[in-house]
Amino acid sequence: MSTWSPDSWRNRPIKQVPAYPSLEKLAATEAKLRQYPPLVFAGEARRLKASLAQVAEGKAFVLQGGDCAESFNDFTAIIIRDTFRVLLQMAVVLTFGASVPVVKMGRMAGQFAKPRSSDTETVGGETLPTYRGDIVNGPEFTAEARVPDPARMETGYFQSAGTLNLLRAFATGGYADLHEVHRWNLGFVARSPLVERYRDLAARIDETLGFMAACGINSASTPQIRETDFFTSHEALLLPYEQALTRVDSTTGDWYACSAHFLWIGDRTRQPDHAHVEFLRGVKNPLGLKVGPTTPIDDLLRLIDTLNPANEAGRLTLISRMGADKVEKMLPPLVRAVQREGRKVVWLCDPMHGNTISTAAKLKTRNFDSILAEVRGFFDVHAAEATWAGGVHVEMTGRDVTECIGGAHLLTEDDLSRSYETFCDPRLNAEQSLELAFLVAEELKARRQPLAERPAFAAQ
Ligand code: PEP
Ligand code: CO
Repeated sequence: MSTWSPDSWRNRPIKQVPAYPSLEKLAATEAKLRQYPPLVFAGEARRLKASLAQVAEGKAFVLQGGDCAESFNDFTAIIIRDTFRVLLQMAVVLTFGASVPVVKMGRMAGQFAKPRSSDTETVGGETLPTYRGDIVNGPEFTAEARVPDPARMETGYFQSAGTLNLLRAFATGGYADLHEVHRWNLGFVARSPLVERYRDLAARIDETLGFMAACGINSASTPQIRETDFFTSHEALLLPYEQALTRVDSTTGDWYACSAHFLWIGDRTRQPDHAHVEFLRGVKNPLGLKVGPTTPIDDLLRLIDTLNPANEAGRLTLISRMGADKVEKMLPPLVRAVQREGRKVVWLCDPMHGNTISTAAKLKTRNFDSILAEVRGFFDVHAAEATWAGGVHVEMTGRDVTECIGGAHLLTEDDLSRSYETFCDPRLNAEQSLELAFLVAEELKARRQPLAERPAFAAQ
């Protein structure tokens, strides 16, 4: 394989590139970003990789979630806190409900760049470039807003730094202490049909913590009760930005992408000989790869070879996003091929991107039932193949939006206009997210026999 450098992707074909009007300005912003401090430390990325290795071995579960696209306008403590809080609630439901350690990753603090299916958008006879995420251009349908502006990369950097700072503070500063489980319940859940269920769970956790305290295990003695590990992730789409934040780790001499702990390759940019794969193969972060229904088996195996040549557990996470009606048919041959080749990967289920539909009023939505059906299908496939269903990857928010139909409140198409705020894909609201977590916990519990103890797995 040819030698890798942080800019070797520039010699490869590339998709989803914004048409910047001034390449000089782009280069000037990249030069600035190269001087700025990294957002994450390589040691943190290694810790995440070690946790993901546990998932690859069937000993832990991943919860990855957040906005489809973060927005510069939504940069407030409340919005960050609410998403973080729902992720904590979901994680606690999974950890307690299924007795499995949960690796938590936000699609947060850098999830700004969006791949699009078309380069242009036409409204009322006017055609403009599509919106590619706040780090590239603006969502407003005006010619000015849609011009890609490199200065937005700097705003993205500083906003990521601010979000990450607050997330770290919440994760280690007391907010995530398990004694606070009741308090995370404030807000939306108080009005929800799920309230009883969550209260019951919180009461059982309290009882457990009381027992543990009596045995001398408490927040003061045990950091795991007081703090949590929370990692950031985003799609590594805007390569000039990613390259500018790629640094040599002084402790190991290895290259790390320092814009987030975990980066993934989207379904539209996973061509094995293209730029995005070239860039990511050279950084040591744990990586994700979206695997859609059009992924040929040969491509997948080639991508695994390129991205994880040493077959290290935790290095590569395959994020299946087939669609509820396709998962049972399309996923098994891929899982089987990966098993046959002895490849160590984490399998996650993204039940969002294969289930997007358009309403009569031309709003993008997703049906909660399809989302659940894909998750169940994913679990069924892994049960049949004796592989570990390693986690879920969801688009969600801590806010009370109405973007996906269905769920405990049975939202209909008519409800969508009430609070439809996304600039990109429809997200689960706080309540739908929690409902999903309860259902996933049930699936996990039902299949909890540790993988290592299952005959088919142990035989490998
Ligand atoms: C996404 O995760 O927002 C996304 C665009 O997904 P995919 O690449 O799987 O379509
Ligand atoms: Co999306």
